[in-house]
Amino acid sequence: MKKKDFTRRKFIATVSAGSAAAAVSNSVPAFGKITILNNNSGKLAILGGTPVAPAKVWPDWPYVDERVVEEIVKTTRSGIWCRIQSPNGTVPTFEKEFAALVGTKTSVTTGSGTQSLNTAVEALGIGPGDEIITSPYTDPGTIQSILVSRALPVMADIDTESFQIDPDDIERKITKRTKALMPVHIMGQPCNMEKIMSIAKKHNLKVIEDSCQALLAEYQGKIIGTIGDVGCFSFQTSKVLCCGEGGAIISNNDELMDKCYTVMNHGTSKSGRTETIGSKYRMNEFEGAVLLGQLPGVKERHAIRNRNARYITEKLKGCPGLVPQKLYEGTTAGSFYLYTWSYKKEHFNNAPRDKFLKAIAAEGIALSGYIANGLHKEPWTDHIQTLPEYKTMFGAARLKKFKEELYLPKCDQVCQDMVMLWASGPLTGTLADMDDLINAVMKVYDNRDKLDSI
Ligand SMILES: Cc1ncc(COP(=O)(O)O)c(C=O)c1O
Repeated sequence: MKKKDFTRRKFIATVSAGSAAAAVSNSVPAFGKITILNNNSGKLAILGGTPVAPAKVWPDWPYVDERVVEEIVKTTRSGIWCRIQSPNGTVPTFEKEFAALVGTKTSVTTGSGTQSLNTAVEALGIGPGDEIITSPYTDPGTIQSILVSRALPVMADIDTESFQIDPDDIERKITKRTKALMPVHIMGQPCNMEKIMSIAKKHNLKVIEDSCQALLAEYQGKIIGTIGDVGCFSFQTSKVLCCGEGGAIISNNDELMDKCYTVMNHGTSKSGRTETIGSKYRMNEFEGAVLLGQLPGVKERHAIRNRNARYITEKLKGCPGLVPQKLYEGTTAGSFYLYTWSYKKEHFNNAPRDKFLKAIAAEGIALSGYIANGLHKEPWTDHIQTLPEYKTMFGAARLKKFKEELYLPKCDQVCQDMVMLWASGPLTGTLADMDDLINAVMKVYDNRDKLDSI
């Protein structure tokens, strides 16, 4: 079948019947038949037809059950509200359990993913006059973790298929000031760590993995966050393990972990001596309580997200208008904080992405764009040019070149083309939930010639 001839009817016919395998494996399981639309003339809901999934309700997020509530009540009653009050409080306990989850000896928590990243930057001794190469396609916290240490976040362009930092552009951006790479595992799926680690080795650079979105993602059999020198996580509300605001750092380097603790704890080490520069980045015991309450089901929810992600990818394989995020070879699990596609308007009768999003929303499925502008387009790039410390530490010529290198067309393209399902809650749904999404996409695709009239 030629791709352009692909329709929902043919699509349904090509789907093999069989059991919906729930088990997570590295191969694509034989998924069952998708639900055939009832009562649906095929007319787009936005043009007066019946929606595929009227009043669609996805699984709630953040995840709350009785255990979460009990942990908070217990902490409230205990009077232990700050981590230094007890070695058995929720935060020290969570640090041990989190380390066990990701397979490291220890972890250090902080008040956010940004704080975790900045703690890692400081603990590695990176500061004024140093450069860290990172992605522009990320949360502001990534670059702020570098800027607050008065180092320079140098932007490498991204790959248009995986949306991840492009290792070739990393190599082009290395200067004698470069001290570290900060790959961002965007959407929760692994970067091309094989190439990134080999570049780091060749140029003697540290690797700080921004794993803020990537809990339990796996690459070449290793948990994301354990491949570089240090890995940092976010527990902000939208994340797959969350407590409002929170973060954690992991590493197999004990000495570095001790330094992270000290930086996190206003420069004061476990021995009680105030030894270095560090803000107060402690996680509080209420955050620890929520995380302890959420931990028990985290692996199961991760497995369901992976199952559902594979299901969607498999079922929409023949739809050329939505191309799912490319996963690098060696990706044995994604975190699927977000499930994303590139929107190819040429396969939707040249309808702009907004029209597609409106049409699918009317079918009851809310998809959206993601990052509107890469961080290379934000005003901080001009602001730092005016700061005496940047002028002094980097010099006019370096700052000029830094600005000139902010032409990152691939990132711009991805910002324009991205379509996403926020997945922390929704991707823990049933296969029937996924069928709603698949049916809605296929209905809009079938009716692509009508998108003009929206
Ligand atoms: C890729 C990435 N890096 C860093 C951060 C910063 O984490 P936080 O918001 O917890 O400070 C986030 C949070 O959204 C993120 O998604």
